[in-house]
Amino acid sequence: EKAQIGVTGLAVMGRNLARNFARHGHTVAVHNRSYNRTKELVEEFGHEGTFLPSESAEDFVASLERPRRVIIMVKAGGPTDAVIDEFAPLLEEGDMLIDAGNAHYLDTRRREAALRERGLHFVGTGVSGGEEGALHGPSIMPGGSVESYQALGPLLEDISAKVDGEPCCVHVGPDGAGHFVKMVHNGIEYADMQLIAEAYDLLRQVGGHSPSEIADVFRGWNEGRLGSYLIEITAEVLKQTDAATGKPFVDIVVDQAEQKGTGRWTVQAALDLGVPVSGIAESVFARALSGGADVRKAAADAGLPGPSATAGTHEGDLQADVEQALFASKIVAYAQGFQQIQAASKEYGWSIDPGAMAKIWRAGCIIRAKFLDFIKQAYDKSPELPTLLVDQYFLDAVSGAQDAWRRVVVTAARHGIPAPGFASALAYYDGLRAERLPAALIQGQRDFFGAHTYQRVDKKGAFHTLWAAENRPEVDA
Ligand code: 6PG
Repeated sequence: EKAQIGVTGLAVMGRNLARNFARHGHTVAVHNRSYNRTKELVEEFGHEGTFLPSESAEDFVASLERPRRVIIMVKAGGPTDAVIDEFAPLLEEGDMLIDAGNAHYLDTRRREAALRERGLHFVGTGVSGGEEGALHGPSIMPGGSVESYQALGPLLEDISAKVDGEPCCVHVGPDGAGHFVKMVHNGIEYADMQLIAEAYDLLRQVGGHSPSEIADVFRGWNEGRLGSYLIEITAEVLKQTDAATGKPFVDIVVDQAEQKGTGRWTVQAALDLGVPVSGIAESVFARALSGGADVRKAAADAGLPGPSATAGTHEGDLQADVEQALFASKIVAYAQGFQQIQAASKEYGWSIDPGAMAKIWRAGCIIRAKFLDFIKQAYDKSPELPTLLVDQYFLDAVSGAQDAWRRVVVTAARHGIPAPGFASALAYYDGLRAERLPAALIQGQRDFFGAHTYQRVDKKGAFHTLWAAENRPEVDA
């Protein structure tokens, strides 16, 4: 008997993916650098299905039916290259290596091109949903060739999460498209988490509510339009009491957010594409600020002052207003993330269907939410939508939210509570809808100091003002 699929790298994600395939009736070849892990997997979970364990890479490859499908689940970067170098020579034309880790899409493009030359398929695929998702049904975002998807797609669809029986897995596009989309998924995840954190902070500091009370607020929100996995787990985390001290769990955790890099990559890529993903960027920077212990200590020691004691209370229903601010800011973050996906799709010729991305994020992944249904519908209606904000559903939502949103940002500023997510989302919204932006002045400054030229509103061409000359005449540039 040969295996339909193989997994090499049996740490928790790889192990759970292998078990998921086995539980769906597929024979799974398993391999790990140290054989112990492989043995453990078969001993502990062998009853769940059919595993073919191998100690050597050669035996592992020999245990697979052709075309061979080898999932690599190791650390992104050097370790992935090492595994590719080990396996590629053992494979034959038409076989495929599938990188299911959080690889950088440019690495995936490079690897795909190199392996294509050797007649092999390289599929960089996003897998979201953490350990539980890998076992019970993740959201899967495979890139690579159409041909590779024909041989691999049905297997991935089989183990993916489902919404009304429809798999949360679709061929995203060629080469690095899958990993790009997974990266933006993570960037959006950062933004969602930051916005939720700001909402909590305001309810606690301005509203005076306890973490446990705020957990109930989130539970309530979870029943409404904000309903999502991240809102749900936020309530769980806020309800948690530390066993040792009896204090709220959030109060015993060091307030420095860590990051493994996908959020930062999203922003770096957005800068190169020229797409303003301010919501995601603020959330990456907010984590960096929180982690800057030395700088924070210096600021505390210097006693940087906050607002005077007369900050006053919130003018409005704080809880309802924060819900509005959270929802509107979330819309902005998603609008920016989807715009980035569309820009990259154009840049790299990926032909990504944004509606299909929203569709496969509805279950399995970390940002799963009811909300994604509306994004899917928006792009189904008009695939070329320049921004989600002009879709009727989202337009109505931000129009309905904007007064509350402004009140929340004012309250945050008056109380000296940092709300970079809410504030920058609102600034983005106001920037987009502005009839005239002060960018005209920036053009003037650029022309003044660097003769960079400007365009006029009333005639075509590039113009330069001779700023140093007597009457500052304008010339065609
Ligand atoms: C997922 C998660 C997963 C991982 C993040 C955490 O989709 O399942 O996004 O990929 O948990 O990379 O990222 P940070 O450690 O950077 O917060």
